[in-house]
This record gives sequence, structure tokens and C-alpha cells, in this order.
Amino acid sequence: MLRNKTIVLGITGGIAAYKAAEIASQLTQTGANVNVIMTEEALQFISPVTFRALAGRPVVTEMFDLASEFSIEHVSLAKAADIVVIAPATANIIAKLAAGIADDILCCTVLATEAPVLIAPAMETNMYTNPITRDNLAKLKARGFVIVDPATGWLASGREGLGRLADINDIIGSIRQVLGRGGDLAGRHIVVTAGGSHEPIDPVRYISNRSSGKMGYALAEAARDRGAKVTLITAPTSLPEPVGIDVVKVGTAQEMRRAVENVASRADALVMAAAVADYRPIKAAKDKIKKGKAGLTLRMECTPDILGTVKGKFVKVGFAAESNNLVENAREKLRQKGLALIVANDITANDSGFGSDTNRVTIIDRKGKVDSLPLLPKREVADRVLDRVVVLLPKPRSRRPKKL
Ligand code: PMT
Repeated sequence: MLRNKTIVLGITGGIAAYKAAEIASQLTQTGANVNVIMTEEALQFISPVTFRALAGRPVVTEMFDLASEFSIEHVSLAKAADIVVIAPATANIIAKLAAGIADDILCCTVLATEAPVLIAPAMETNMYTNPITRDNLAKLKARGFVIVDPATGWLASGREGLGRLADINDIIGSIRQVLGRGGDLAGRHIVVTAGGSHEPIDPVRYISNRSSGKMGYALAEAARDRGAKVTLITAPTSLPEPVGIDVVKVGTAQEMRRAVENVASRADALVMAAAVADYRPIKAAKDKIKKGKAGLTLRMECTPDILGTVKGKFVKVGFAAESNNLVENAREKLRQKGLALIVANDITANDSGFGSDTNRVTIIDRKGKVDSLPLLPKREVADRVLDRVVVLLPKPRSRRPKKL
């Protein structure tokens, strides 16, 4: 979704300026055109040569550069931009923008653009928490600027505190989310489940499976990037929490069921990529079970079938990880659980299914249409599944456009 988008990346003079190199690199790798603007202060921290090399485009450092390809720079950059991103943003640039001061090329570009502007502040804790900075940020927010809040951690002063530039994945996720506003899922609420449930045996042991959560997280991010409000109900995974998504953390199948039921009445679609345990120990032991020579027999019972029993008017999509009779088994699950679609996941193919970054799936609908996809990155599988969900959603009721 970032391919061919034009992104102005504004870099201001803070120690986190070096992290902007990674942002420029990652955005360029997605196929975006990255036009870098550096303030005079940013040049004290990092060379424009770095950005010239990473983005493969000229870097703008002055208002009137006669050698540049841009005619009147701030105007042409502002006009071409799909989004303006300032990362890192110092207290100084935030103050200037809040006051409408246009005394450098970056401020002028922000004032001249009609594109959304995203700001990722990075500064000393006291500067960030100072009421003047807080007021300035609130003012910008009220004017429609998107603020990616800083993180807590090690600061240039040698102290720990709030003010570190937000995680780069969060900044790029926020860019995707902003650019996805008005996408084909705008105004929709998509609920996604991910990961393998944990069914406790005792306080330290549990039964689970090899689900990494990657498929579910890819679906949640893809839905966010198409404009949806997304709730991700996730069993434990080691994946970072995606930005711009309501994340509900659960452990057991029973907890996942409760979480799904809590949001179901507000959902337009439920996509269950989670590998929910089919069985759980009848009773988890209160204390850690001691090792014994006789071995251990666990008595198990069925977990609740979440997808098969949840009620509502939303589009229901299931996944089926199968090692044999892929289409027949998946069709049977679609029928039993009353689904609109099922995504049959071939876990015998290389690099497909549990834990991998790619997946090989066949999408089957209620009418029996079978669509076999090649091995694709999970993010692309997610978009193909959502393409099918979009056409099944009832037409949205007409709404007045939201004011920024
Ligand atoms: O997480 P990854 O490592 O990326 O791996 C992705 C995946 C392989 C887990 C995913 O692509 C997948 O196939 N998920 C479904 C796993 C499965 O085999 O589900 P199932 O056949 O047991 O269940 C069918 C459907 O019913 C699923 O949508 C499941 O979420 C749901 N279900 C299952 C059991 C249960 N008690 N309640 C349910 O709602």
C-alpha cells in the first residue's frame, strides 16, 4: 500500500536523527518515493549523503536551492506529498508549527501542504512533559496532525525517561494507517483472532500449538491499512503489538470466546485465524504437579467452539489448517460453523502454515467457489482474504463526511 506513495520525511536536529535513516530505508524498500527535508540543525547530527543514498533522491536542506530538481521547493514538495512525516520532531519544530512560524523549508512545506502531517516527537523528558510542549502538541492534534507518542527508555542525557523516538515499526504502522483512511474498509469494524490458545495443566504448564500469530496479525494490520477499525483478540505470541489496533490479550479458548462475544455485536466481520485448542484439561491443578514414576494421565474435555456458536450479523470467516483432504475438510468446517468463507491452510506445503512468513491457502465460499492461491507472504494472503470479505459486507449506510 505504500508503493508509489510520495512521502516527505522531515528530519529535525535531535540525537534520534540517525533513526530517520532506518525510516527512510524501510519506506523506500516498500516502493514509496521518499523526499527528505533536513533542517539546518539536523545537518549537525547526520549527513544528507546518507539519505541521498538510502532514498535514492535529492535531499532538500535549503529554501532556495538552484541546483535542486524541485522548482519552488516547499511548494512542489508540499503539493506532491501524500503525507508529510516529521521524525524526529524536536520541541522547537513543534513550537514553530503550533505558532504558524514559517522560517525554514520544513515549516513552509507543512504550511503549504494539503496532505496529512504525522509528527513523532523525540526530546528530553522535561521538555516533552513541559506544559508548553504539551499545549503545542494538543494544538497541533486539534488541527488534525497525527502524533506518534514517544516511548520511554534511554535518552541522550544518559537518563531513562519518556521522550525516546517511538519504535520505527509504530511510526511506519501509523503512516500506513493514515494513508489507509478512506480505504475500502473505512467505517467498518473488523475483529480478528490470532495465536494458539494456552490451556493450563497446572500453574506452570499448559497445552498449546505452534501458532505464532503471524497470520492473524497480518490480517489485523491489512484491515487497519484499508481504513477499518480493528480489534485483534490474541492468544500469547512474541509479536510486537501493532499500532492503531485495539488489542485484547487472552490466554485460553474460554477467554477468547468471552472476548469475541464482547465485541461481536459491533463487528462487521469476524476473521478467526487463531488456532484454538480443541481440548483442555478438565481441571487445571492448583499446585505444580510433582514428577512421579507412574507417568501422568490428563483427562480432557472439548473447548467451546467459538466460531460455531457466536451469534451476530457479521461476515464470519474461519481458517482451517489441514494436513490432508484440504478442500473437503475445510468445506465441512464451513458448513458446520455456518461460515461465509473458509481459508483452507495447506500445512504440508513448504513455508506454509504455522510459524512461517508465507502461506499457501485456498479460499472457499458458501456457494462452493474454490480459489487456490500460490505461496504468498502472509500480508498478501491477508489482503486476498479481505478482498473477499469486502464484497460480502452489506452496503454502508450513508454518513456525513467526518470533519478533521
Ligand atoms: O499463527 P501462524 O503461525 O501464522 O499460523 C497460522 C495458522 C496456521 C494458525 C492459521 O493460518 C490457521 O490455519 N488457523 C486455523 C487453525 C485450525 O486448524 O483451526 P481449526 O480447524 O481447529 O478450526 C477451524 C476454525 O474454527 C478456525 O477459524 C478456528 O479459529 C475456529 N475454532 C476452532 C476451535 C474452537 N474451539 N473454536 C473456534 O472458533
